[in-house]
This record gives sequence, structure tokens and C-alpha cells, in this order.
Amino acid sequence: QDTTPQWRPLLHYTPRRNWMNDPNGPFFYKGVYHLFYQYNPLGEEWGNMSWGHATSPDLLHWHEHDVAVPFSDTKDIFSGTVVVDTHNTSGLGTTDNPPLVALYTSVFKENAPRPAGVQAQSLAYSLDDGRTWQPYGKDPVLTLSPDSLHFRDPSVFWYAPGGYWVMTAVVANEQMVKLYKSTNLTEWTFLSDFGPTGFVHPDMLWEMPSLFPLPLDENPAQQKWVLMLGINPWSIAGGSGSMYFVGSFDGTTFHAEGLPPDGSDPAAYDWLDYGADHYAALVFSGLPESPPVTIGWMSNWDYAVQMPTSPWKGQMTLPMTMALRTIGGRPQLCLTPEKHYTTLVANDRPALSFDGLRLSSERHLLPDHARGQVLDIDMSMRIQDADRAGLFVRATADGQIGTCIVYDMKKHELIVDRSRSGLTDFSPKFSPEHAVSMPAPNGEISLHVIIDRNSVEVLSRNGSIVITDLIFPPVEADRIIAFSENGMTEFRYMKITRLDQKPE
Ligand code: FRU
Repeated sequence: QDTTPQWRPLLHYTPRRNWMNDPNGPFFYKGVYHLFYQYNPLGEEWGNMSWGHATSPDLLHWHEHDVAVPFSDTKDIFSGTVVVDTHNTSGLGTTDNPPLVALYTSVFKENAPRPAGVQAQSLAYSLDDGRTWQPYGKDPVLTLSPDSLHFRDPSVFWYAPGGYWVMTAVVANEQMVKLYKSTNLTEWTFLSDFGPTGFVHPDMLWEMPSLFPLPLDENPAQQKWVLMLGINPWSIAGGSGSMYFVGSFDGTTFHAEGLPPDGSDPAAYDWLDYGADHYAALVFSGLPESPPVTIGWMSNWDYAVQMPTSPWKGQMTLPMTMALRTIGGRPQLCLTPEKHYTTLVANDRPALSFDGLRLSSERHLLPDHARGQVLDIDMSMRIQDADRAGLFVRATADGQIGTCIVYDMKKHELIVDRSRSGLTDFSPKFSPEHAVSMPAPNGEISLHVIIDRNSVEVLSRNGSIVITDLIFPPVEADRIIAFSENGMTEFRYMKITRLDQKPE
């Protein structure tokens, strides 16, 4: 029984009960999306780390399964990856029934093959489409010498030009990504190190690296490589966050391009998300079509443990398709909601749709039929001479409670302000406001906003700017208020789709 049903998201994955953090080994196989995740089978707090498991036909409806890889007396199971070993390079299956291979971090305890606290990479495989997982005989398959307490988060992909697998992992406390290669997934050879770059701090961790190619501006002749990373703390919105580097990979070394000369300012780097609640993002493996799909943990290590939901803690972001586009003269990672979500929205009749609403220094409460706790909002506005304009979402009719999504013409910033979003005092680190600098030529701003029972995801500038924030509003806060401050704004277009009833 949910104690906080009002905050159980509808579109975002949550386990029925207990603690969840990072997505692990997301993959697509035989028409099914698999998601594993850092999971405590025994409680609502971090600990007893194991791999939970859920599957979905469409990344929107999830079915939770038994724990896939459980913790034991000798080790905890940290984050990692799953690949479909189509050609049975590991020899653990057959070409008719290729093995699914999981590589993950073991954190050893007393009486283990390594000293307590040591982190090393282990392997498990499945011959029944991901239902059950066998630990591999040799454990671990990859260690650091000397042993490290911070060697973790393997992510693996097939590097076709070289005909081998490539793994990225981190030495988290040294802000270093390590690259390895293998022809059989069980024996790994060191390739190179990436990092630390200029953006480092003595107590900063680099976690959850992943490397993948993307064509720039949809031009296959212009292939770039993207290295995504979790940074904790010191991320752009405070605490943990997801950043990325764009560069090249020659089969051995990743070279980042366009690094800022002064590396100490987080705003000089590229972030997958400028909000507080996006971390540990990974890419689905095994997708037949080329654009990669990413999913992240929708929370922040600063306050994840205090999150006021029960009997579960932790949820995933909405899966997003990625592209690399030149924006403002730089290659930028751009996110759009994955196609099953866009189809869901397109198939629903919008509850409200209009062209042209002019507001002059006023607030406008949108009508009753645009109410809801789960909404998709697609809009564009032109700020004429106003200072700020935007939307209050998950708001009460009087505007006393609400999450403010606003563009500030003076600061040239897109801002999400959750200081009056509902319950906020469960942690002093639940940061009130997240801003990102963004140009608005002619005052024009397009926004795509996805609202669930306890979150907002705001996308702008072709998906190169995303702000993901958790919120904990009261149920009655289900209104939208459009506003223009100190001048005129034209809301040129707005389409609101209610998603409260997700079709079965
Ligand atoms: C990232 C992380 C990983 C680690 C896992 C442990 O959030 O700290 O580095 O593998 O969580 O649960």
C-alpha cells in the first residue's frame, strides 16, 4: 500500500517498494526493453546493493521482476552494463541462443576473493532472455593493480571498426575514466585513460561513464563520440548531475574537443541536464535503429535518501532519444522524448489548444479542462517588452503553490523555480532554483514540458537544454497559470495533453 500515492509517478519507472538509484544495463532484445537498476531488496535506504529488474514493451508500462543479481555475504553489486553477445564471442551461449552478458562492479566484503571494500568488475550471463543470471566462474574478471576502492561502473559497447568490445569504467575519486578492450568479454586489456580534465575538485567523484558515437547534424560523414559522465558533487545544479564531452575516439583513446580554457566553472561545460534530478544516465544497448536512447536516475545524491515518498524511493527519468546538433557554434547533445511517448501524446486529443494569447503584466489561469497532475505541454511564446514570462505548473488556482518555469529577458536565463512547489523542507539541500543561460532571439522561446505527479522535465532550444526537477505538490495543485511580468508577452501557441489516464 502506497503511503504517498499522490507522488507515485505515472510515466516514470518506480519499483513497487524500496530504494532504487542508477539505471543499470538497459537493453532491448526480442521486442522487450529491459531495465536493471541499483536496488535495495530490504529497505527504503541505500544498501544491500543488488540489480533490480523491470521489462517493458514501450518504455512507458513497466513490469517489475525478481531481483536479477542479488547481493550476498561476500559482495554488493554496483552499477554496470548488459550487452547482447550476438556472435557468442564469450562462448557462454551459442550463436542460436546468444548469451546476454552483464558486466558490473563487485564491492567485496569479508571472506571474499579480494579484501573488503575493494571494487572490481565481474560478469554474469543469461541464456533465458534475461530472466535468470549465472555468475561467471572467474570472479572478478577485471581488477585494478593495486586494488582500488573506487574502480567501478563498467559500460561496454561493440566497436565495429576494430572488431572488439570496449569498456569504460572510472576510478571515481581520481576523476579518471579508464578504457579497456576485449574480444570475448571475459579478458580485458588496458587501452587508455581520460581525465582528470580541468573541471575537478578534491572531493569530486566521476561515476557512470559511457561512450557512444553520434553523427553531427545527421551527417554520417561527420561522426563524433560522446562521453557521458556522472559528476558528484559540484554539478551544475548542485550535488550530482550528468555532463558530457564531445570528441573523437580512434579505438584506443578518447580526445575531448573544445574544452574550456578555464576549467573551474561548471557553466563552461556541457550538461545533459541543468536541473537537479538527473544522474547516472546510460544508453540502451541492442536497439536496432541508430539514434541512442538514454535513461537516468531522477534524483540527486544531495537528498535522495530524504525523498518523501514511501514505500519506494527513487525513480527514473523519461527515456529520451539523443542527437548531436551544432547549436551556438558547438556540437550539443539534444534530447527528445522517446518515440513511444511522443506517439502516446500524438494519439490523445489535446485538452486545450490555442493560438495567440496576449498577456500584459498579468496572470491567466488556464481553464478547467486543462487541469491535471500528468500533462504534456507544448508551447511557444514571444516576450515583447516584459521582463519575465512563463508558466506556473502544478499550481493552485490562487497561485500560492506552483512550480515556476520562466524565461528572464534581463538575465537571458531559463529558470525552474520549485521554491513554492509544495513539500520542500524534507532536506535543506533540496535546491530551490535551477537556471541556465539561453539566448532568446526576438524574445521567442519554445518549451516542451512534461509534468508527472512529482516531477517536471522542461526541454528547450531543440532539446539541448533540459531541466529535470522533482517536486512534491499537493494533489489539488493541478492548474496552469500563464504569466507575463512587467510588459507584454504573446503566447503564440499552446497545446496541453492530459495523460492522467495512461492507456493499458
Ligand atoms: C552512482 C553510484 C555508482 C555506483 C552506484 C552504487 O550513483 O555511486 O558509482 O556504482 O551508485 O549504488
